[in-house]
Amino acid sequence: MVGHLLGIDVGTSACKAIVMTEDGRVLGTGSADYPLIQPEPTWAEQDPEAWWQGCGLAVRRALAAAGCAGPDISGVGLTGQMHGAVLLDAADAVIRPALIWCDQRSAPQAAAFEAKIGRGRLIALAANPALPNFTATKLLWVRENEPGNYARIRRVLLPKDYIRLRLTGVAAAEVSDASGTLAFDVAGRRWSREMCDLLEVPPEWWPPVSESPEVTARVSAAGAAATGLLPGTRVVGGAGDQAAAAVGNGIAAPGLVSITIGTSGVVFAATDAVVMDPRGRLHTFCHAVPGGWHVMGVTQAAGGSLQWWRNEFAAAERAVAAATGQDPYEILCTEAEAVPAGSMGLIFLPYLMGERTPHTDPLARGVFFGITARHGRAHFARAILEGVSQSLRDCLELIGDLGCPAHELRMTGGGSRSPLWRQIQADVFARPVRAMRGSEGPAVGAAILAAVGTGAYGTVPEACQTLVHPGDEVRPGPDAVAAYIEQGEIYRALYPALTTVFATAGGT
Ligand code: XUL
Repeated sequence: MVGHLLGIDVGTSACKAIVMTEDGRVLGTGSADYPLIQPEPTWAEQDPEAWWQGCGLAVRRALAAAGCAGPDISGVGLTGQMHGAVLLDAADAVIRPALIWCDQRSAPQAAAFEAKIGRGRLIALAANPALPNFTATKLLWVRENEPGNYARIRRVLLPKDYIRLRLTGVAAAEVSDASGTLAFDVAGRRWSREMCDLLEVPPEWWPPVSESPEVTARVSAAGAAATGLLPGTRVVGGAGDQAAAAVGNGIAAPGLVSITIGTSGVVFAATDAVVMDPRGRLHTFCHAVPGGWHVMGVTQAAGGSLQWWRNEFAAAERAVAAATGQDPYEILCTEAEAVPAGSMGLIFLPYLMGERTPHTDPLARGVFFGITARHGRAHFARAILEGVSQSLRDCLELIGDLGCPAHELRMTGGGSRSPLWRQIQADVFARPVRAMRGSEGPAVGAAILAAVGTGAYGTVPEACQTLVHPGDEVRPGPDAVAAYIEQGEIYRALYPALTTVFATAGGT
């Protein structure tokens, strides 16, 4: 019997699961939401137990939607939000809620650590600077602020690896997600003894690490009871959500670049060597393709900026949506479409949660610049779509500056479902962009990794070649390109003009 593959994505807002055939057809999907806990403005926590409950529900829902049962699944691939710190005690019990990727509270610890070690040395050892997003700087915060909790830590897992522990009883990590901890030797594809020493974090806290398509464990009896899977089902290493999404978009060889608008926005380029930005503005991580790496620029609040606008300022659109069954984002985008390219001089800097690329500045804050009495809410909505696209262009340019080829750009994520946002991206980048067809995101990539790990395909690039089919090309329009070049000049002058103001305001 031909087995199907299951991809599980432990996302920020929900756990999503998909059942995929070996020839790439998605038979069914399921998801289950869980809350984001924000006890302070720059804090972001989640309860790992909520992820696990969500995983059980999502897998059962996906199996039901696909008309499948546990025995139909031959392999499982895990993916999820990166960087989160799941702290476990000697009995593998969760010590406190996980500090997740967008939690900025460890900014002072990250800055102090970097000042002590030096950015150059950090980049030489871990390929990346110390950012508050990364797992290890979160550990430094816990050590300083919650010594009682810190003293109990015996193991640190990333979010999807915690799900692996619950599903299989095995603690394991894989190279792509481990790359985002700051304790990993990205070039050597192994935990970094030197980084652990510098961080003064016991190296034994990190679990054994594999390549992404390798089988790491098998579903346990308890995991089976919670999910409906068969005990003994193989679970591959999987990947961090960005590397998995890239696999799902076929970004498995140099020259291919994906641009994903989810809560965060990511520009991802596959490389066949370790390419590092000496200033640490891009992340350099292992790819889910064995022997491959990638560079990645991150806009912290991409879809997150539009979501903020929808939640706080689009009550009217939400009311219409509720009455008509439409998607409130579609209504917002239809209104924004009526505004000319450039939003009549209104410019948005999307730094609602600080910024990673290109500024690596947790104290940066969102800005609307150029407001006049001519501007209404639709201008603000369009300015958000444009500002996020300008930020993604910053990422693309940096990747180009490092000499990474970008022969084909592929757009994906929730943001690329909007035809307007797709067109704005092509216009701001001044390049044709291909829209990807599927919208299941990282879970598809995780299922592809499971297909490789269980032997259906020999390699990840081979699987991508067969399974991934990019959609139509969106071409830039010359007038809009000109408007965005003009806008880009002011956009790029704003952050340098405000840097010291952001620092003085101290992130308030
Ligand atoms: C990647 C990153 C986000 C999270 C959540 O560096 O921080 O993509 O993984 O999606």
